[in-house]
Amino acid sequence: MCWRQWCALMLLPRLRRDALVLDLCCGTGRLTGALSEANIRVIGLDGSRRMLQHARRNAPGVPLLQADARQFGMRDAFDAVLCTFDSLNHLLNQEDLNSCFRSVSACLRPGGLFFFDLNTDHGYRLRWKGVRKLNFHGRKVWTRYHYHPELRLARFDLRLERFSTGTQAKDELVLWQRCHDTAAVRAGLENAHLSLIDVFGLQDGVVVAGHNADSERLFFLCENASGRLQSPAYLCRADVN
Ligand SMILES: C[S@@+](CC[C@H](N)C(=O)[O-])C[C@H]1O[C@@H](n2cnc3c(N)ncnc32)[C@H](O)[C@@H]1O
Repeated sequence: MCWRQWCALMLLPRLRRDALVLDLCCGTGRLTGALSEANIRVIGLDGSRRMLQHARRNAPGVPLLQADARQFGMRDAFDAVLCTFDSLNHLLNQEDLNSCFRSVSACLRPGGLFFFDLNTDHGYRLRWKGVRKLNFHGRKVWTRYHYHPELRLARFDLRLERFSTGTQAKDELVLWQRCHDTAAVRAGLENAHLSLIDVFGLQDGVVVAGHNADSERLFFLCENASGRLQSPAYLCRADVN
């Protein structure tokens, strides 16, 4: 079982039948689509219009919003917010992460669940290194992963060569990630009234309860402990679907 299925399994039994779920940083919408197929009412949110174009195909009929995870507000009160596959490592400083936690807290109903994962220092040291070259549908793809442990910053470079009408063009992409400090993450959650229920670690491809120095990725399950629905400071407007 891939850890993405595991995370759905972890959350789904805790949700009531008509639960409303926000897939925060939904990307190409694979999890969004899977949740929708499982008859979960889900809304996808991502900052990238191109990602949302893929999500529209992978999650047909699901409402999709283009918004910034660092500060967003929803009209609906959600039973759960999911944020998977190191999306929150894309937020590059603690204040952005704290602001995201506050937005999540504001859109969760009291007792609502927040489930997210983060890459760890060990995970970056283990996996974020080296150059890979591959062929993708006849195109040459070059990738490089690099982690700077002192700065706790990771960089991913991708170069894609495409051939059209005899000319050769290159698409390039650079992505940065921050390895967030676990103690600061816990403090940010607490300040946003998100109380931690459990932490799980991914180790050698297996998700285990608790975590230790060998965890490549951490999963956090939290609950909105504010006891009342907060009014969001900001409301998302752009509805892509
Ligand atoms: C690694 S992908 C994960 C996508 C999806 N959650 C999954 O599990 O496949 C990270 C996603 O986070 C989105 N993202 C990064 N920073 C964001 C921000 N500040 N606001 C909204 N989306 C953001 C990116 O556009 C991208 O789609």
